[in-house]
Amino acid sequence: MSEITPPSGAIPRTAAVIPAAGLGLRLGGGTPKALRELGGTPMLVHAVRAMARARAVSLVVVVAPPDGVGKTRSLLDEHPAPPGVTQLVVAGGATRQESVRLGLAALPEDVGVVLVHDAARPLVPVTTVDAVVEAVRAGAPAVVPALPVTDTVKQIAVPAVAGEPEPVVATPDRALLRAVQTPQGFDRATLAEAHAAHAAGGDATDCAGLVERLGVPVVLVPGHEEAFKVTRPLDLVLAEAVLARRRPPS
Ligand code: CTP
Ligand code: MG
Repeated sequence: MSEITPPSGAIPRTAAVIPAAGLGLRLGGGTPKALRELGGTPMLVHAVRAMARARAVSLVVVVAPPDGVGKTRSLLDEHPAPPGVTQLVVAGGATRQESVRLGLAALPEDVGVVLVHDAARPLVPVTTVDAVVEAVRAGAPAVVPALPVTDTVKQIAVPAVAGEPEPVVATPDRALLRAVQTPQGFDRATLAEAHAAHAAGGDATDCAGLVERLGVPVVLVPGHEEAFKVTRPLDLVLAEAVLARRRPPS
């Protein structure tokens, strides 16, 4: 932790990295998922605003599809960040893990706390973002917002023959399971070490998992229902409904 606390005791700078380079295959529809609109505004713009709204965040790094960097820059130029927040766009990679790694590589030296936030979670409330930052600043090297699991979850074995029914091997105690969300918050040095240790060809969908593999403790803070990930078409319907509920009646 000493790396993130300058000798003066000043609070380290906080940046958000937003992986937005995915194809959105499960959502379908042709357009890259981060550019799909919610309430007339691209999902990515909602996600950037959600990070920029947090008082601690002064830099947002968006990781765009490699062939979409110019388009993403123009989009963010049309939707400028609030005063005091800088927006940067870099090219992503073939997996989320690779995209996050490329986003981390673009961070200036003075950033000590990093939030990694899915572009696909456009509606996370600022109170959740603040709670994650607060826990990292209080000394936790890795912080994850999470919710209890509502479905019972089965662990399966991969069937010997593709297409055969999946055999169940275990039913974990649901009370001990949590569904994790983003933004996940990290001491920058810890996250950089975790990514460096698992650099080659990784496709981790969760940065905290890489930190766990270092043997560094990861802690949870309460997540929020509205921080759900837009993954399938029905999630878009829910996202539109959440936005409509937030808008004051005209
Ligand atoms: N992501 C990324 N680079 C990749 C793959 C994913 O930056 N090569 C990002 C996505 O843009 C998204 C986040 O990681 O914001 C979470 O991924 P997911 O919800 O799986 O989005 P997609 O990978 O785009 O969707 P799908 O898996 O359905 O294709
Ligand atoms: Mg994906």
